Amino acid sequence: MKRTFSVAPMLDWTDRHYRYFARLISREALLYTEMVTTGAIIHGKGDYLAFNEEEHPLALQLGGSNPQDLAHCAKLAAERGYDEVNLNVGCPSDRVQNGRFGACLMAEPALVAECVTAMRDVVDIPVTVKTRIGIDEQDSYGFLTDFVGTVAEAGCDIFTIHARKAWLKGLSPKENREIPELNYDRAYQIKRDFSALNISVNGGVKSLDECEVHLQHLDGVMVGREAYQDPYMMAGVDSRLYGATSTPLSRAQVVERMIPYLERHIAQGGRANHVTRHMLGLFNGMPGARQWRRYLAQNAHLPGADAQILAAALASLPADAQAA
Ligand SMILES: Cc1cc2nc3c(=O)[nH]c(=O)nc-3n(C[C@H](O)[C@H](O)[C@H](O)COP(=O)(O)O)c2cc1C
Repeated sequence: MKRTFSVAPMLDWTDRHYRYFARLISREALLYTEMVTTGAIIHGKGDYLAFNEEEHPLALQLGGSNPQDLAHCAKLAAERGYDEVNLNVGCPSDRVQNGRFGACLMAEPALVAECVTAMRDVVDIPVTVKTRIGIDEQDSYGFLTDFVGTVAEAGCDIFTIHARKAWLKGLSPKENREIPELNYDRAYQIKRDFSALNISVNGGVKSLDECEVHLQHLDGVMVGREAYQDPYMMAGVDSRLYGATSTPLSRAQVVERMIPYLERHIAQGGRANHVTRHMLGLFNGMPGARQWRRYLAQNAHLPGADAQILAAALASLPADAQAA
């Protein structure tokens, strides 16, 4: 599994419908689930680990800090066929801090190391960590190297670094993705100082050109918001970042492939907009982008909306967009 390009874990966004859709655009990108807490998996009623086979390569992101619980969930994930288990050490929300996990774990490298060890003891798939470059006033390079060094000693050799720190008090999660300054050099320096580790950078990356710049310094790039809001940016991932010679599906072909998927979802009792809400940005930058977005937003939530809504939305676009 080459982790040159990955799509970030995003709560409410990178659910299995989005991931099925994203997989039609790039064969190679490594996809992450939304963060799933160990509590939800162990005590929840739903199946929080469900995914479509087509989604591989696929990583499960876990939220938690109890080594036994994490090990239990990692084992379930491996049995279900996930390709990787990732621990969230980046989320700054109050809810997550109350549960003593997410970004606040950066202050407890020994505990993160224990969690990694417990998970690695029970699975053969990679156990990886997604972290920030610091928290609050603890934002020196030394703080980051202590964290990475301690966790790496426990056997974690794959890290994704969101290249901004998090303020644990006073900023919302959204503000914590925008206000703290990006510092890519910190991630580059980690790669230089820990050259045996596989290091991906995350945060603020908006184009494949930018990915190529980061890849001169690092092993991988993780893209979040841009891959969601402008998903067709991923159409060049396989050829440009993985050297694939195959032609990506056109936007219209992606829509056509989503129709049977949506049919199945509706036949199982789902609603059209569970799926179509992730597709609103597909035509971004094209003539008809607004029409596409509007058609789906106005119609997909109506009772009785079926899979043909996608064909109808496509047919409502100008001819050049329909062929794009
Ligand atoms: C809606 C949303 C939900 C997110 N949920 C998670 C999450 O569950 N786990 C996580 O590690 N990061 C989460 N993030 C942070 C992203 O994974 C990523 O680190 C951040 O958006 C920065 O990357 P970007 O600038 O490419 O979007 C979320 C971000 C967004 C926008």
